[in-house]
Amino acid sequence: MAPTVLITGASQGMGKATAQLFAQKGYDVVLAAREADRLHSVAQEIREQSCQALAVPTDVSDSQQVNALVEKALDAYTRIDVLVNNAGICMTAPMAKTTQQDWQDIINVNLWGYIYTIQALLPHFLEQKSGTIVNVGSFGGKVPLPNMTAYCTSKYAVTGLTETLRLELEPQGIQVCGVHPSVTNSDFLERAVFRSEATSDTENQRQQMGEILKSPVASQPQDVAQAVWDVVQHPQAEVVVGTGAIATTAHRFAPSLTQWLLQRSFSN
Ligand SMILES: NC(=O)c1ccc[n+]([C@@H]2O[C@H](COP(=O)([O-])OP(=O)(O)OC[C@H]3O[C@@H](n4cnc5c(N)ncnc54)[C@H](OP(=O)(O)O)[C@@H]3O)[C@@H](O)[C@H]2O)c1
Repeated sequence: MAPTVLITGASQGMGKATAQLFAQKGYDVVLAAREADRLHSVAQEIREQSCQALAVPTDVSDSQQVNALVEKALDAYTRIDVLVNNAGICMTAPMAKTTQQDWQDIINVNLWGYIYTIQALLPHFLEQKSGTIVNVGSFGGKVPLPNMTAYCTSKYAVTGLTETLRLELEPQGIQVCGVHPSVTNSDFLERAVFRSEATSDTENQRQQMGEILKSPVASQPQDVAQAVWDVVQHPQAEVVVGTGAIATTAHRFAPSLTQWLLQRSFSN
């Protein structure tokens, strides 16, 4: 029987690349994201390569939808071996321009979305005494990025969730790993929110980010998919993918220096 992976945010970007890679490697894949048409077309592409794929349109910020996702996955494939928590949204805004609704939206998807899938799957992993949970965080969950307080708060929380849960579950045969991408040329600009004092600044920020995504400093979704595959094959606590690895290491050893540098390179 083929192993099964359940991937959230699998309709595009890193989640789609991860689904395609796991399918090529022989996994049955369960795909979750909100927009049904795009999700079904990814599942169809995978099936055309003679692999098994199930698309379950799901909003991960709704615990009932997440419970239904896990039930449907288990009905279809009987067991799940790997969970990849990847669905996320991004926001760049100063604190004064971040509304309570913004905070709720970002925490609901980037943190609660991960907690809901883990809670729904954990009884199954504990029963089978095996399983791997990969939480896709961000280098913004290892290093503070100016004007990204809400996003970094959600991703620092994912780092804490990952590191602490790893301690708890490893003795029970369940691996918990963090994959932290740096800037990656995915489709995230489609959903990313930019807010600043003046509308023209907002447009500039979006354009600047578009240019960074096309530059050689940006990773590709396939790089992150490969990192996810590698940590499933050879479990490790965490991996930082791409150029953010330098900032992460520097921040660990010289936090004041990196904060000073980051403030100057990222602020408007
Ligand atoms: N791209 C980067 O530079 C970068 C850097 C560091 C970390 N990351 C992290 O990497 C992960 C993947 O990002 P990406 O760049 O591949 O993003 P992306 O291209 O925007 O894809 C995001 C995926 O998540 C899904 N999604 C969003 N909200 C959802 C919700 N409420 N419920 C279910 N699915 C939802 C989207 O589909 P629907 O909209 O149809 O739901 C889509 O499939 C995220 O956690 C992100 O924070 C990205």
